Amino acid sequence: MKAWIVYDTLWGNTERIARSVGEAVGGGVRVSRVGEVDPSEAETVDLLIVGSPTQGGAPTQAIQGFLNAIPPGALGRVRVAAFDTRIPMKFAKIFGYAAEKISASLVRKGGSEATAPAGFFVGGRKGPLSAGELERAAGWGRECRAS
Ligand SMILES: Cc1cc2nc3c(=O)[nH]c(=O)nc-3n(C[C@H](O)[C@H](O)[C@H](O)COP(=O)(O)O)c2cc1C
Repeated sequence: MKAWIVYDTLWGNTERIARSVGEAVGGGVRVSRVGEVDPSEAETVDLLIVGSPTQGGAPTQAIQGFLNAIPPGALGRVRVAAFDTRIPMKFAKIFGYAAEKISASLVRKGGSEATAPAGFFVGGRKGPLSAGELERAAGWGRECRAS
């Protein structure tokens, strides 16, 4: 199985989650920061996982650009999954979170959801990741792989 994880990060928290998910997926998975990728490769993998920090209730501009660059229908043979990092504050719920929006976009491009979108908590804007989140990310990665 060819698996690819594309993530963005400002302070490294989402990158740490991406790497934990990647270790759980295993099997030579590629883990790439969004600025360094060619979006046309998305349709060539079996499992595409996209992760972003939640910023203003949405994925980062770079992740949005990556998603927008995938042609409609291109993910017809691809299983997809999305995650974000977020802060556990009530006001943040009003705007929603990045993972659900990434997932909706991947499905609009033709992808089928490998597992439900997931959010991982940081203690504040710069982090750190809350206790247990790396382990939870590994469990979610195993779900993606098993789907
Ligand atoms: C400009 C900006 C907007 C943010 N907006 C939200 C938000 O709407 N909801 C939320 O839960 N967290 C929000 N955050 C917190 C980020 O989710 C947090 O910085 C991120 O998870 C850290 O991950 P990173 O180190 O990978 O960038 C925001 C952070 C920044 C910098």
